[in-house]
Parts: sequence; structure tokens; C-alpha cells
Amino acid sequence: MTQNNQSVLGDLDLSPSQVQDILTLAIDMKATPEKYADALKGKSIATLYEKPSLRTRVSFDVGINKLGGHAVYLDLQNGAMGKREDVADFGANLSCWCDAIVARVMSHSTLTTLKGAASVPVVNSLCDLYHPCQALADYMTLQELFGELKGLTLAYIGDGNNVTHSLMLTGAQLGVNLVVLTPEGYGVDADVVQQATNIANDNDCTLTITTDVNALGQVDAIYADTWISMGDGKSLEQIINTFKPFQITKDLMQSANAKYFMHCQPAHRDEEVTAEVLDSEQSVILRQAENRMWAQNALLHTLLVK
Ligand code: CP
Ligand code: NVA
Repeated sequence: MTQNNQSVLGDLDLSPSQVQDILTLAIDMKATPEKYADALKGKSIATLYEKPSLRTRVSFDVGINKLGGHAVYLDLQNGAMGKREDVADFGANLSCWCDAIVARVMSHSTLTTLKGAASVPVVNSLCDLYHPCQALADYMTLQELFGELKGLTLAYIGDGNNVTHSLMLTGAQLGVNLVVLTPEGYGVDADVVQQATNIANDNDCTLTITTDVNALGQVDAIYADTWISMGDGKSLEQIINTFKPFQITKDLMQSANAKYFMHCQPAHRDEEVTAEVLDSEQSVILRQAENRMWAQNALLHTLLVK
């Protein structure tokens, strides 16, 4: 079992210097993967899913394999953890065999319970509050595209959700200016705003929270996510009129002078973004998807090897 027992349940479980080091390592892993081929040799990592996944599931499995480790996929989509046995027992048992637990869960509290019972690191691969692995991949992508993150301005437009929270917290740690533009009533968590604002203030960058589409200004990139997250329980018919003014169109990209369009995927053409923008040269969604693997590998290396 591992000596280091650092878990990453939320973005702030990594220090700003760890975040920057992970991005640097991820870029090096992408350039020279052969250097890291045995980094997780002999290590086994449980990856469990209470919600559907394509990118996270495949990128963790293939990524762990690239580092010489072994991923064990636990499909819990047909029944939440805690039914057959307590979540704490689940975590304690997995620790008997595995060197880390990567978990996609309905509720953040499940991660806290797993961490409390596990003797190995627990990594959040999406919960209701955060998606830290996504934010690492997204800022790695911006670092590749712009060379430097400090001083960049990213706009997140749409539903305030787990992805937004992680972009806010990790972005503030990295010195990225963030504009979060959501419809009234679909904003981000007030505690996350406070935390991200405090970090941004200490880090010479800004966090702007607004519901005014006309307040967007000039940005380097625009980011969208689904209007309806897994487990939200809202229907498109209910929200379409509220969200339509927040759709990412070519006109919006041009008026904001945005160079790139970003999306964590799964994406929905002509809902949160027009097909024209999603499928354009400006769209970097597949680079983000690829970088999920490199960023996660750098994170696992940091938790399990260093
Ligand atoms: N972006 C992301 O987490 O995709 P999946 O839900 O397919 O894993
Ligand atoms: N906010 C989305 C992200 C999917 C990767 C969700 O939680 O469904």
C-alpha cells in the first residue's frame, strides 16, 4: 500500500504549487510517455461509477495501463453504493487490495465517507459539487494553447454546476481570470464563490459572477457544459427559454473575441452550443478529452509515486 495518503475530493485538496506541478508533469508525460511506463508498476486502482461515463472511465483505464498499473472497473450504475453494504465497508475493503480509489458518485458525502474508511487515497472523478480531474485537463489544455495561464481570461457560460465550481477553484489557484455567466436561479454555490474569490484576491486574478449576457466583455476562451447535469432532474422543456440566451453561438464567440471554445462533454449540438461552434476549428473539445488522461496520470503519479 502507498505511504502518501493524500486524497483529492475537491480542487482545494491540491495546493497551488501541486496544481502547477501536475500540469507541468502532465505535459511532460504527453511528450515522453515512455519515461513513465513503469510508474505504477504493481499498483492497482479501483475506479467506481455511480453515474454514467465515457471519457472518465476510458481515460482512467487506459491511462493507468500506460503507467504500468492495473485498473479495476466497478460498475455501480444499477444501484448506488450503500445498499448491499455500507459505503464505509466498501472503502475499507477496497483498501485491502487497491492502492487508490477513483470514485464518481451522486453525492460528495459518499466521497467523504469513503475517505474516512479507506487507508489509500480517494480521487473524485465527479460528484454533485466538483469535477477536479476535468479542471486539471482543461487548464492543461489552456496552458498548451497559450503557453502561460496567468492573466488569461476564461468565460464559463451556462448552468452553474460541478464543472463550474472546479474551474473557479482551480482557475483562481492558477491565476486565471474567470467570468461565470449563468441564468438567474442557476448560479454557482455561494461558498465556492467565497473560496474562489479569496484565492483570486491573493493571486492577482479576478472572479466575475454575472447573469448579464451583455456584461461578458473580451475573453480568451469560452467554456460550456450541458444545461442539465446527471441527477439534476430538470427537463429541457422546462429550462429551454431561460437558457437559450446563454447558448454559445458564432456571434457570441466573435463579439467576445474568444479564440477557443471549450466543453467537458458530453455536448449537445444546438442546445448549449451551436453545431457551427462545436464543430469549428476553434473548438478544442477533443484536446480536452485527450488531456483528461495525461492530467489524471500526472495526478496519480503525484499521489502514488512521488
Ligand atoms: N467530461 C466527462 O467527465 O465525461 P464523462 O462523463 O463521459 O466521463
Ligand atoms: N455537469 C455535468 C458534467 C458531465 C461530465 C454533469 O454532472 O453531468
